[in-house]
Amino acid sequence: MFPWGLSCLSVLGAAGTALLCAGLLLCLAQYLWTLRWKLSRDRTSALPLPKGSMGWPFFGETLHWLVQGSSFHSSRRERYGTVFKTHLLGRPVIRVSGAENVRTILLGEHRLVRSQWPKSAHILLGSHTLLSAFGEPHRRRRKVLARVFSRTALEHYVPRLQEALRREVRSWCSARGPVAVYQAAKALTFRLAARILLGLRLDEVRCAELARTFEQLVENLFSLPLDVPFSGLRKGIQARDQLHKYLEEAIAEKLQKIQAEPRDAFNLIIHSARELGHELSVQELKESVVELLFAAFFTTASASTSLVLLLLQNPAAIAKIQQELAVQGLERACTCTPGASGPGPDCGCEPDLSLAVLGRLRYVDCVVKEVLRLLPPVSGGYRTALRTFELDGYQIPKGWSVMYSIRDTHETAAVYRSPPEGFDPERFSAAREDAPGTSGRFHYIPFGGGARSCLGQELAQAVLQLLAVELVRTARWELATSAFPAMQTVPIVHPVDGLRLLFHPLAPPASGNELHL
Ligand code: HEM
Repeated sequence: MFPWGLSCLSVLGAAGTALLCAGLLLCLAQYLWTLRWKLSRDRTSALPLPKGSMGWPFFGETLHWLVQGSSFHSSRRERYGTVFKTHLLGRPVIRVSGAENVRTILLGEHRLVRSQWPKSAHILLGSHTLLSAFGEPHRRRRKVLARVFSRTALEHYVPRLQEALRREVRSWCSARGPVAVYQAAKALTFRLAARILLGLRLDEVRCAELARTFEQLVENLFSLPLDVPFSGLRKGIQARDQLHKYLEEAIAEKLQKIQAEPRDAFNLIIHSARELGHELSVQELKESVVELLFAAFFTTASASTSLVLLLLQNPAAIAKIQQELAVQGLERACTCTPGASGPGPDCGCEPDLSLAVLGRLRYVDCVVKEVLRLLPPVSGGYRTALRTFELDGYQIPKGWSVMYSIRDTHETAAVYRSPPEGFDPERFSAAREDAPGTSGRFHYIPFGGGARSCLGQELAQAVLQLLAVELVRTARWELATSAFPAMQTVPIVHPVDGLRLLFHPLAPPASGNELHL
């Protein structure tokens, strides 16, 4: 009995000592970690580092971020302010929000900061992309791509976009059960970008196959830079190689017919580069195409889904769109009714919307802007500090990552008369003083700003306006689930269940001015 109790005590004693040692070691590691980051401040600057915590040794605050999701940033913003430091995914990061701070970052591109993407994204998208270009090469590349998004080019895309969107909404109405809107929007965005923007000839089966391959590429863009079997990067490389193989054939075909073909984005890129004295290689073309698909894909699909969701939650906005369409004589999509009793998705009616007509639909424009304010698809952008500079009284040391936050900036903008968390499209109307155009445009940045602002902004807005019009005058929709889904913000804003809805065709109005809700 006695020796047993003695050995028990000695085991407990040893365990206690081990625990104590481990605790001391952890404290020491924590102390050294904090000290390391304190010492890494730029001593040539008298300014302090921003407030915030660098978390645990090695992991930083990555685990906290993964567990807490979007509340991670809001809780720290409340505690430390609009410029705070943290340590995520192996790097020191300074998170920045608020119009004035974001303005400094966005207008400081190439001078104070440069855009920063993970190594895996560079490997998968290639070196001939906007994303990896910096300084003069970046400006030249933007110039080549600018033609693709000129007003003349957009005029050319709009009728075909309208036809495709009309067909899509009609097919949702003809579906026998619920439609998973986010998944449908992703497939739709890929089709629009590949067929209409890039003019690729794809039948339904090929298109669906390429969309899946493309999704595999995009899903692995942010992975560890390890090219080993079953790794994310390996899967991404396989997807990229399949896409490039298909594109090589498509490019060869297109290059043969380039004079005769309509001026789609593909041809515009080639012509524009030639005019600027540069003949693009097939590799450059392939990478540009994949980059444009990537930039358009998740963003537009996310915004389209948010539009459908927010309209469903705000029937008053649907009624106002219907009134605006009636005033403009646009309330009838076409004379045929989609659904089981009517013709299929291909109704054959002529498109009736152009950029000029969309420009007159002021309320629709406000709705689209409000959707992008409330649920911005891109939550922010990463930069690297090129030199130490001042921001809001703090030093941003050279080499640190800087993340400007679109979501936080929208959420905290104090320029609006109605609360920022509410859905109020009229905050963007010309009649309201709180329109961001008059109070500082960096309060409203769904498309970023400065030298790296979104090239596809007008195109994306046109797609969303067309979708809003086609939806409201063709369908009524309701939840197929018992409650609205929660929203997930990583990698991009979307409903957790994909948003399952039932769509019903609206009966064509008996007279020109009759409205249907
Ligand atoms: C609702 C849809 C969209 C949203 C919310 C959006 C948002 C953004 C944002 C925030 C940036 C800047 C990122 C940064 O600062 O690092 C950006 C860049 C870019 N976007 Fe978009 N985008 C959308 C659709 C599109 C479309 C349809 C295209 C083209 C087909 C496109 C092409 C680009 C390109 C090429 C860039 C990179 C510009 C550069 O680095 O110079 N975007 N987008």
